[in-house]
Amino acid sequence: MSNNDVLIALLTRVPVIPVLTLTDPDKAILLARALVAGGLDVLEVTLRTKQALKSIEAIAREVPEAKVGAGTVLTTSQVDEAMSAGAHFLVSPGSTRRLTEAAAIARAPLLPGVATASEAMAMAEMGHHVLKFFPAEPAGGVAYLRSLAAPLPHLTFCPTGGIDPVKAKSYLTLSNVVCVGGSWVTPTLALETDDWSMITRLACECAALRS
Ligand code: 3PG
Repeated sequence: MSNNDVLIALLTRVPVIPVLTLTDPDKAILLARALVAGGLDVLEVTLRTKQALKSIEAIAREVPEAKVGAGTVLTTSQVDEAMSAGAHFLVSPGSTRRLTEAAAIARAPLLPGVATASEAMAMAEMGHHVLKFFPAEPAGGVAYLRSLAAPLPHLTFCPTGGIDPVKAKSYLTLSNVVCVGGSWVTPTLALETDDWSMITRLACECAALRS
């Protein structure tokens, strides 16, 4: 399967990809289970903490039903580290030639970030037809993405950044949106208090957004 086909197969599983910034691999396991119980089995763990790679490893090992990806991938070495940790896919806030080449060499499905038509076209020239639209809300939101559908009908987006449940519903009506990403599914308070039932309830609400 091509990079694009792998991404589409993953991203069509869920309407919302929880974007997780984790500091405790043991909690990561419980969190992943709570999200999967609510119907969200594609997760993005950002590489923004010291424990991020260990959290990816822990989820890949203990919750294999979750398809865990690595987010905030900025460097070529992170491509290899994340894949070795068990990531199923990689997400980057932006898009560079070095990153896309490293992902291609590692055979890592990469969802590169773009915020403009030119950036999207540059990625399409390199074979990437499934893209993260980031930061979605500051970059123009639903109206901007809708405007890209007619001139760039071959491109599909996962908007992320500043999205809430109401906005998610609007994005999901667009023909060029496969799913959305966001951190609202895992509120800090719920994580701090181990309120896994709240996380599962929020995940259920997200899973129902496309139905
Ligand atoms: C991120 O990479 O931080 C994601 O875009 C999450 O954005 P959010 O916190 O605004 O949902």
